Formats: sequence, C-alpha cells, structure tokens
Amino acid sequence: MSKIVRYSGSDRVNHWLVALLFVLAAISGLAFFHPSLFFLSSVLGGGQLSRILHPFIGVAMFVLFVILYFKFWHHNILHKNDRQWLKQIGDVIADREDRLPEVGRYNGGQKLLFWVMTITMLLLVLSGMAFWRPYFASNFSIDTVRLAAVVHAVSAWVLILGIIVHVYAALWVKGTIKGMWTGVVSSAWARKHHPGWFKEISGGK
Ligand code: HEM
Repeated sequence: MSKIVRYSGSDRVNHWLVALLFVLAAISGLAFFHPSLFFLSSVLGGGQLSRILHPFIGVAMFVLFVILYFKFWHHNILHKNDRQWLKQIGDVIADREDRLPEVGRYNGGQKLLFWVMTITMLLLVLSGMAFWRPYFASNFSIDTVRLAAVVHAVSAWVLILGIIVHVYAALWVKGTIKGMWTGVVSSAWARKHHPGWFKEISGGK
C-alpha cells in the first residue's frame, strides 16, 4: 500500500510540543479553577510551582501555536463544500460518508476547530497577560483584571472542549494519529477520508 507524506518533521515536532504544553497548561489551569480540582496542581510540583509555571507554559504554547498557525491557516479556509459538510453533521456521525460532499485536506469540522483554536489561543494570551501578577496586572484597572479572568476561564473551557473533540476525532478515524506521529498516511486513508486532497496530490488520478 503506497504511502503519502502528510506532515513534515517540523510540523510534527511543532504540533506535539503545542499538544504537550496544552496538557500541562490545562491541568495546572484547572487546578486553579475550583478547589475540587486542586489536586491536579501536583502534576507540576504543587500549588506554588503551578502558579509560577502556568503563565510561562501558556506563553510558550501560544508562541508555538503561532508558528503552527502560519503553517496551516491556508489549509483551513472554509469553502462551500465544508459548510455543506457541517450542515450534514448527522450523516458524519452516522458514518454515511457516501452522502457527504467531497472533503479536501481537512473536513469542515477540522477547519472550524482550527479557527476555534486560533480565537481562543488569542483570547487566552491577551486576557492572561492582563491578570499576570506581578508582571502586567498592575497596568490594568481592577475591572479590566476581573473581565480578563472571566474571558480567560471561558476561552479555556471552549479550547479544552474543542481539544477533546479534536482528540476524539483523531482516534475515531483510524490512521490519523499515526499520520501525525510518523508524517505519512496510506493512500487508502487519504482516498477514503480526504478524497479531494488525494486527487489534488495525485494529479487528479
Ligand atoms: C492533546 C492531544 C492532541 C492530539 C492527540 C492531537 C492529534 C492530532 C492529529 C492526529 C492530527 C492530524 C489530523 C489530520 O491529519 O487529519 C492533528 C492535527 C492538528 N492539530 Fe492536534 N492533537 C492534539 C492537540 C492539539 C492542540 C492542543 C492543538 C492546538 C491548540 C492542536 C492543533 C492541531 C492543528 C492546527 C492540526 C492540523 C489540522 C488543521 O490545520 O486543521 N492539536 N492533531
């Protein structure tokens, strides 16, 4: 079965570093969110270390995400077929792939999630800066700091739920995780899940 390159080495290192930092930022952030989740702070060595490290991890994740963004944004522009794919989400869930419009390099759901990731990452870093004590918070009024805390929590929840869907979908479509891990997918995988992309790279054959 012939193999097709889907991700370069730098794409993969970039992606998995963002994923690792996301897990650490999410776990430490959830520990601050509610006392019942405080036990999660032990992952980064306790409450104080988590409080110190969380913002630095968040900034590192954001910077690496920006690189990922510039590598992938042009693959995630929503076209008419993607909007139709999203409207037929019932057929997607019921695995009626034959009824769906042709999918390119990414499907409508992946593209939508990409923009959710982008917006929430931006909101997280901006709001996080506004209430990062002792560095930046003193430059903002208490009302701004309070608003920033709410924006931060809401964006974090949206991103966490989005990533749960992202991981679930990656596990659901067999061969996808392997693609991001090894950089290559089988031509059968590409033809079945991303036929538009397959045609594009195989010159319409
Ligand atoms: C936490 C565990 C994660 C896993 C297991 C995972 C898995 C994957 C897999 C398998 C793909 C390949 C999809 C395909 O080729 O069709 C992918 C793509 C991608 N992932 Fe992740 N991912 C994770 C976290 C993240 C995080 C935290 C972000 C950013 C916030 C992210 C951003 C992306 C992007 C931008 C792509 C390319 C797809 C696109 O441009 O639409 N991933 N991921």
